[in-house]
Amino acid sequence: MTAPIIRRKDDLQALTRAWRRAGDVIGVVPTMGALHQGHLSLVRAAKAGADRVIVTIFVNPKQFNDPKDLENYPRTEEDDARKLAPFAVDAIYVPDPDQIYPDGFVTTVSLGGVASVLEGAARPGHFDGVATVVTKLFTQTMADRAWFGEKDYQQLQVVTRLSADLDLGTEVVGCPTIREEDGLALSSRNLLLSDRARIKAPALNAAMERARGRIEAGEEVAQVLDEASLEVERAGFNAVEYLVLRAAGTLAPMDRLTGPARLLAAAQLAGVRLIDTIAVTPPD
Ligand code: PAF
Repeated sequence: MTAPIIRRKDDLQALTRAWRRAGDVIGVVPTMGALHQGHLSLVRAAKAGADRVIVTIFVNPKQFNDPKDLENYPRTEEDDARKLAPFAVDAIYVPDPDQIYPDGFVTTVSLGGVASVLEGAARPGHFDGVATVVTKLFTQTMADRAWFGEKDYQQLQVVTRLSADLDLGTEVVGCPTIREEDGLALSSRNLLLSDRARIKAPALNAAMERARGRIEAGEEVAQVLDEASLEVERAGFNAVEYLVLRAAGTLAPMDRLTGPARLLAAAQLAGVRLIDTIAVTPPD
């Protein structure tokens, strides 16, 4: 059965207030639509971890630092609702823009620390936009729990920090990245890849996996990362913006594998910006 599509926050809150009164645990899966198996894995986890599940679909203009990127972002509401039907979620919240940013809206939620590096540095204002909309979505849905993918590992850390810092009362749960068989991390942006670019795209994850193996085997981190970036560019990517090793959680720079870590990368392929991350584990 297709869940009701709700566009006004008052209508949503009429539901969530009743669920709260009934003692239900409310879960939310925030998305920008163009749903794929990665999103659906979050919905599956939410169904197992909450009594009521709301999926939000809102292409948030404030988190796009490039107007072309916002314009090109896929919008597939009908298809999304169809994909959600088998999960029997309790509501699909597709807020009208004025429900998130009413006339005169001037508030920005801005984090330092984990939000200021990597994506934060490469895309000025991006995490301000994410933090602002996520604060609104958490408060509008009154969610007890929210599910986010590890594919956007830095976003997961930002949102976890945000919820704790502002006492939003929403527990943030991270879920593993879902990949195509050839290793490409699922992303709504993959829809923008041409056929030729799609063939080249898995080279990013392949290079990262090789780098992970070498770093875990004790090879020098800086050299391994330089070689991995070159490998990605030789595979046909236009540019590697970053391919780095960072401490898990804090994203502090790491030049030796001294604890649990992540490889994180962003690279341009035929006009599409792809990001990926994998865990790197020090030997016992
Ligand atoms: O990951 C996304 O799709 C977006 O950044 C989010 C969390 C829905 C906020 O707009």
